[in-house]
Amino acid sequence: MLFGMSNNIIAIDGPVASGKGTIARLLSAKLGWKNLSTGDIYRGISVHMMRSGVDPFDKEQVIKCLNCLDMRVLAEGGETLVFLGDEQVNGQLHSIETSKYVYKVALLPEVRECSTRIQKRIAAEGNLVCEGRDIGSVVFPNAKYKFYLDASADERAKRRWLQDRLQDPTLTIEKVKDGIQRRDLMDMNRSVSPLIIAEGAIVIDGNQTPDKIVEDMLNHIKSYQVPA
Ligand code: C5P
Repeated sequence: MLFGMSNNIIAIDGPVASGKGTIARLLSAKLGWKNLSTGDIYRGISVHMMRSGVDPFDKEQVIKCLNCLDMRVLAEGGETLVFLGDEQVNGQLHSIETSKYVYKVALLPEVRECSTRIQKRIAAEGNLVCEGRDIGSVVFPNAKYKFYLDASADERAKRRWLQDRLQDPTLTIEKVKDGIQRRDLMDMNRSVSPLIIAEGAIVIDGNQTPDKIVEDMLNHIKSYQVPA
């Protein structure tokens, strides 16, 4: 159904380390569109909660801390910039500690509503490539272009290990794979906004090179634009 479709949103969903961030950045640069990593919004909320010593499984503590969140998110220059008060916290968003914390608070509907409000505000500014877990299914179900990027657990573990071993040289690929699979299970099985292949989404093989993936996506986007 074309009625109500958002022509100016490209939704990219997929599991941990499937390459969504890299692909969204490349695609947005090619199109001259804004790029939003919604994971960075959940990560910004997590940094705020971790600083306050909040137990991520204690709903009352999380909601109380959410009420004093002073966070600003900008999609600029192909990046997602996250500020807590006046402090830009992007350097802390992808620490191993934040990665272990974020999926726990992302389970809560109140946290998701807060994040979704920010996403909708940024989308209202115009052309947006938006990547996450529930973009095509829940946040922007009317997005005209929806992709689901997947890659094997081994490939994803290798990619994440190459990044994370800089922070922790003792890390093994097996340990990273284990953590990735645990987060996937939580993201896919939660009751609110689980990671699914959204209706109408095109599944893209994330084991390919980034250039090939972007080329595939652009071909799909072009073919959509041919008048019926
Ligand atoms: O994409 P990224 O790995 O940075 O996301 C971090 C975490 O944030 C995910 O594991 C997931 O728990 C949560 N998330 C989410 N919904 C989104 C984006 C991220 O629940 N749209």
